[in-house]
Amino acid sequence: MRHLITIRSLEVEHIQELLDLGADFKERVIANKNVPKIANRVLGLLFFENSTRTRVSFEQAAYYLGIKTANFSSHGSSMSKGETLKDTILTLRHERLNGLVMRHQMSGAPHLAARFFGGPVVNAGDGQHEHPTQALGDAMTILERKGSLQGLRVAIVGDVKHSRVARSNAWLLNKMGAEVRFVGPRNLIPINTANLPGEVFYDLQAGIQDADVVMCLRLQKERMSDGLLSSSSEYAAMYQVNRDTLKWASPDCMVMHPGPLNRGIEVDDVVADGAHSAINNQVENGVFVRMAALYWVFNELEIPEKPAKPVAKKGVKVGR
Ligand code: NCD
Repeated sequence: MRHLITIRSLEVEHIQELLDLGADFKERVIANKNVPKIANRVLGLLFFENSTRTRVSFEQAAYYLGIKTANFSSHGSSMSKGETLKDTILTLRHERLNGLVMRHQMSGAPHLAARFFGGPVVNAGDGQHEHPTQALGDAMTILERKGSLQGLRVAIVGDVKHSRVARSNAWLLNKMGAEVRFVGPRNLIPINTANLPGEVFYDLQAGIQDADVVMCLRLQKERMSDGLLSSSSEYAAMYQVNRDTLKWASPDCMVMHPGPLNRGIEVDDVVADGAHSAINNQVENGVFVRMAALYWVFNELEIPEKPAKPVAKKGVKVGR
């Protein structure tokens, strides 16, 4: 059984396989031919947190692959009547869903789902932990512009502390040979960065100096405890990626953002909509790597065969 829950636990060969599959699906979808179908599968889309890009792109990916989706959100479900996550997962299992895509506010929730569901689980973002398909889409986007990840200097700027996107990207980029930098104020960089692959910079200029890729992150106010940030405008004054600050990065650097954007805070309009920006390409590639993710997990799904009835032939003893 295959799940896609963390980048951290993936082998380099599997990351490469998923990226190659994503590029292959992109070609096929754009040419409108030879898109392989996965028949007779129903995929549960379980979103316990808000989502626009991730949710719609999984739906779109499933559509291209011929997979039927069953949508679930905690509002309007029995979870609002007090049902536990475990019982919800068991319910979906016994309703014979074949796979789950899951976003949850709790880090580790997809691991729990994987334990009880009995089919493949794809993590669509869990708490502050990981968001593997976002990192795959980002890597595919970088590869299209830069040709390779090896040796690239990638600065991840902003609210690293609350960002599952930062963590998944850091693991992926590090495994694929890029140099990762975390840039932001002290209170938005996790204390235990020693566990993450990257160097920490508290100064924007030093952090994005000669960077090939600048990834901006949203300030995740919904996850911040009170008083963590004095004000968004103070943050913007020190860490905004804009026309002026981008001059410190490499002249052909690309600017990325997983979305949703808070324009005028972590990034300005000129940069978000300018020639360096790859934000729309990230969204586009998100669909193709999610096709890859679904294909990859479903292809390994073992369909139990009907136990063959022993055929008794005359004179031959069957069984013991
Ligand atoms: C991110 C997320 O939800 O982790 N968005 C996304 O999936 N593209 C980042 C964020 O919410 O800021």
